[in-house]
Amino acid sequence: MRGLKKELPFSEKELNNLLKSVQTPFYLYDEKGIRNRIKTLKDAFSWADFKEFFAVKATPNPNILKITKEEGCGVDCSSMAELVAAEKSGFVNNEILFTSNDTPLQEYEKALSLNAILNLDDVSHIDLLKEKYKLPDLVSIRYNPGGDFGNEIIGNLKESKFGVPKKDLINGFARLKDYGVKRFGLHAMLISNELNPQNIIKVAQFLFETAVEVNKKLVIDFEFINLGGGFGIPYKPEETELDIYYISRQIKKLYENVLLENGLKPPKIYMEHGRYITGPNGYLITKVLHIKESYKKYAGIDANSANLLRPAMYKAYHHITVLNKNSDEKTELYDVVGSLCENNDKLATDRLLPELKRGDVLVFHDVGAHGYSMGYNYNGKLRSAEYLFTKDRAFKMIRRAETLDDYFATFDF
Ligand SMILES: Cc1ncc(COP(=O)(O)O)c(C=O)c1O
Repeated sequence: MRGLKKELPFSEKELNNLLKSVQTPFYLYDEKGIRNRIKTLKDAFSWADFKEFFAVKATPNPNILKITKEEGCGVDCSSMAELVAAEKSGFVNNEILFTSNDTPLQEYEKALSLNAILNLDDVSHIDLLKEKYKLPDLVSIRYNPGGDFGNEIIGNLKESKFGVPKKDLINGFARLKDYGVKRFGLHAMLISNELNPQNIIKVAQFLFETAVEVNKKLVIDFEFINLGGGFGIPYKPEETELDIYYISRQIKKLYENVLLENGLKPPKIYMEHGRYITGPNGYLITKVLHIKESYKKYAGIDANSANLLRPAMYKAYHHITVLNKNSDEKTELYDVVGSLCENNDKLATDRLLPELKRGDVLVFHDVGAHGYSMGYNYNGKLRSAEYLFTKDRAFKMIRRAETLDDYFATFDF
């Protein structure tokens, strides 16, 4: 039976060579691919004063963050560790956005010490911050308008814990203005893994209209409007890639017709994608440990849901290439499973693959964002190493694998 394919940036020979000296499982990122995605985004939105703030949570490896910096990105951080990763990767001042929720005060303190842009998740934080610290010149508010922007993952925003509700938005900006804040940002994250361009365009239109409304009521201009992250990627080979240039053209029209027509000073356009940039440029390389024939056929691999949670958490599809086998000959149906003591520890369910044997190498596609970073240590499973396939076609370790000593380091025996 023929099967749809996904390409790999390295040849089978190159990966086979690496596997002679490197233990599976491991993550592998494609440097050139990451750089190209950023270049595309910047090129498409070059009509605006545009900046991408890479969402650190997607791929919080300082070596990857440095690549995004070299390509002109800032970073979007949501926690202390992400702020420290940004700092250690060389990001400074307003290159760092801090979009957190239920925020511990120490994290605000750290963000303020880095001169990061604060993006507030609730208006109650304004007074809290004012009591303790001097409010910065530039502050942004994360807006949650309620309603539904057609995104399957986010759904009804009234159920979302994130962002400032409609009733508080104007008051929030008014209070910031009263407290001496001079420069303002408007932010929302209303879609996730969105492949429908119309839903993306709808979000931009909505935020532009909101900026006009706030401008008319409070006479404030926006230094930036942050459209959030959430551009989708085609996880399934039959899905199609977003046409970023089409989306950009539509957003440009709205920028002109809504913001400029209403006399707003032209704001910068910010975005904070993770998945769009690193998602398709990360691979999880694993080996088959066992083939088990029970009521179903199981391919037991040396990775598990603690390495890649998305399939267990979201029933997410990640395409599999079997190294050194012809993907046109998919003849066997497998559940591809790890060794966790959880029956949802399945990285693929009912997947048609070439016949597998012990030692076969499986490459999971599109795991570059929210892959390694969502990992955990259940059953005492250790985190894998991360490698970079460099633009010069070399393999470079960018994070070693965790050891048992790391795992037990927090105990005093
Ligand atoms: C506030 C915020 N911004 C950006 C992102 C990045 O999303 P994506 O990787 O889907 O672009 C996320 C993802 O969780 C987020 O919560």
